[in-house]
Amino acid sequence: MKSPIPDYLNSVLENARPNDDGATASYIDVLAKAETNRLAVALAMVDGELYSAGDDEIEFSIQSISKAFVYAIAIEDAGLPAVLEKIGMEPSGDAFNRLSLQKGSNRPFNPMINAGAITAHSLVVAPNATVEQRTERILSTLSRLAGRQLHVDEEIFEAELKDANRNMGIGYMLKAAGIITCNPAEAVRGYIRQCSVNVTVRDLAMMASVLCNSGVHPVSGERIMPAESARQVLSVMATCGMYDGSGEWLATVGFSAKSGVSGAIMGALPGQVGIAAFSPKLDERGNSVRAVDICKQLSADMGLHLM
Ligand code: DON
Repeated sequence: MKSPIPDYLNSVLENARPNDDGATASYIDVLAKAETNRLAVALAMVDGELYSAGDDEIEFSIQSISKAFVYAIAIEDAGLPAVLEKIGMEPSGDAFNRLSLQKGSNRPFNPMINAGAITAHSLVVAPNATVEQRTERILSTLSRLAGRQLHVDEEIFEAELKDANRNMGIGYMLKAAGIITCNPAEAVRGYIRQCSVNVTVRDLAMMASVLCNSGVHPVSGERIMPAESARQVLSVMATCGMYDGSGEWLATVGFSAKSGVSGAIMGALPGQVGIAAFSPKLDERGNSVRAVDICKQLSADMGLHLM
């Protein structure tokens, strides 16, 4: 029997399409000029089935969604205690690119804001590793999660690097506070490379499904991360993944999620399904307007609210 899910996903997209609010990210030209009518959704079940609709083969840069997986890699490479010594687990209630540290410990609030993500990046492989070594480690893990070889979008990377003053400022703040020990400019360059990896909604849903499946890839059966790491990532995504909109998100949509400035949202319902939605126009917090609508619909229709 033909599955009803693809038709359902098409109807979800058509419901979301009329909402033309928001604007593309304006800080770099390549993102500002993104085609605003792009719209896609994908669901990856923990049994390995993958469903998608709309512009599901269109690639976009992963941006901040990479932070969730690089946090998991940092935990594997440095160990959870060392990571927790450097990066907190509390929502900051501030914009993602705020120059802020927790009072007392000097740690960034969490790994989902830029300060925490740059710190997590600096813990990948080893504190003295090169950008190339860290990029290779991150790219190969993201590719194993997606189930296909992913690539860095060099145009995005170059544009982001030219506009990196704020992130460089965060890097030097972290170095001055003793949180990162490597060269801050190199840590930021590597962080920008991790944000510039191209993915589709199908990739993101598949990657999320590994988190939902306790770290084991639902298709290949390969263990990509320990179950404890998957749980840690999902927990921090639940409280901090949607930035200063995280509280409202958890109350209204009800599953762990991470957004990125290119217009994607990756969601995860443990034990059930990895979710991805994409459309480039963002709200004032930097979350995709239509992707938020899509997640709200999926949550209501499929009963995905955790609570
Ligand atoms: O750090 C930055 O500015 C970007 N490359 C990534 C930020 C991002 O995706 C924020 N998310 N909404």
